[in-house]
Amino acid sequence: MNSEKIFSDDKDYIAGTYARFNVAFKSGKGAKLYDFDGKEYVDCASGIGVNIFGINDEEWKKAVKAQIDEIQHVCNLYYSEPQAELARALCEKTGAKKVFFGNSGAEANECAIKVARKYGNTRYSRNEIITLKNSFHGRTIATLSATGQDAFHKYFDPFLPNFRYVDPTMDGIYSCYTDKTCAVMVEVIQGESGVNCLDFDFLRQLEKFCKDRDILLICDEVQTGNGRTGYMYAYEASGIHPDIVTTAKGLGGGLPIGACLLFDKCKDVFTYGDHGSTFGGNPVACAGALSIVDRITPELLLEVQGKGAYLKINLEHIKNVVSVSGMGLMIGIQTTKPAREVAAKCLEKGLIVLTAHDRVRLLPPLTINKEEINFALKILNEVISQ
Ligand SMILES: Cc1ncc(COP(=O)(O)O)c(C=O)c1O
Repeated sequence: MNSEKIFSDDKDYIAGTYARFNVAFKSGKGAKLYDFDGKEYVDCASGIGVNIFGINDEEWKKAVKAQIDEIQHVCNLYYSEPQAELARALCEKTGAKKVFFGNSGAEANECAIKVARKYGNTRYSRNEIITLKNSFHGRTIATLSATGQDAFHKYFDPFLPNFRYVDPTMDGIYSCYTDKTCAVMVEVIQGESGVNCLDFDFLRQLEKFCKDRDILLICDEVQTGNGRTGYMYAYEASGIHPDIVTTAKGLGGGLPIGACLLFDKCKDVFTYGDHGSTFGGNPVACAGALSIVDRITPELLLEVQGKGAYLKINLEHIKNVVSVSGMGLMIGIQTTKPAREVAAKCLEKGLIVLTAHDRVRLLPPLTINKEEINFALKILNEVISQ
């Protein structure tokens, strides 16, 4: 197989939902990737925040292979050791009380929406959920309904009712809140819409607002979670305590998994039959995820904060950079150039970066080293300052 054959098969047989760059990756190690022609790239995307310990991560592979040799799938009618261990590890790391496993970020958010509606409906006949403008919560109909961007609300009507989108301010929240509001759902950093960090004062006021009214606070940490921002979950940086946290992407280290973490108030909302998934909590995915979660240590988080700060300082000095946003190794760069053009030029020069709206977005593996970071800065400088 060569790249050209892959491109043509893809065009012929795969639904055209992705604006792909003309590269097919064959292999890699850490933050290095190689295409089918042997060209080397430094990876500042990690498969959109998934491969957080890089490509070909030995510990993750060992955990996954060991589980494959035991059993590849157990249906959720029976108990599963890796699932139970991963749930315990997530609860011990976060203070959550119960976990529901799905297969993706969208599924984790679907689960959160269901928990919030059951909580609200059964206690107070409430079923409205407030989300933020410019949010992104997934591609299923419910999570698209939760997504506060008009661009996502075309073609697929009818969407679910009872979602309201507000600016990330308390005025916005008050303007939309009704006696039917059961939850508010936020991304601490809005990744897909350009790496927009919410104001921590707003988050703390929102937490109080929700607690005073027994409205659930949901943090969608699908992109920000699992060490990405220099915290296990980004909400920790603000000091708030959400009732539900959703996570996916980096949790699996490369295999599909999503989790909905339920804190005190929500831990017993679901009972038999309320929710389920054939593949949710698959033992191989869970064994891999456990090897990831176990390695998100305070030392790693400090490293991520340091690498992020180094990147940010150096990016801010590049000519034509307007602003740099984000936390840890989740970085958005506003430049005077079209983001996709920057990404395409970087790729030509052997650097993989992402875009998010009009920004260039960096989500490198958390283990990216200094030499690779400096290479990324050199290429970004060449491309952006030209
Ligand atoms: C904040 C957030 N929520 C949900 C999702 C959807 O996750 P998935 O693509 O795994 O369904 C994404 C994906 O980018 C995301 O960034």
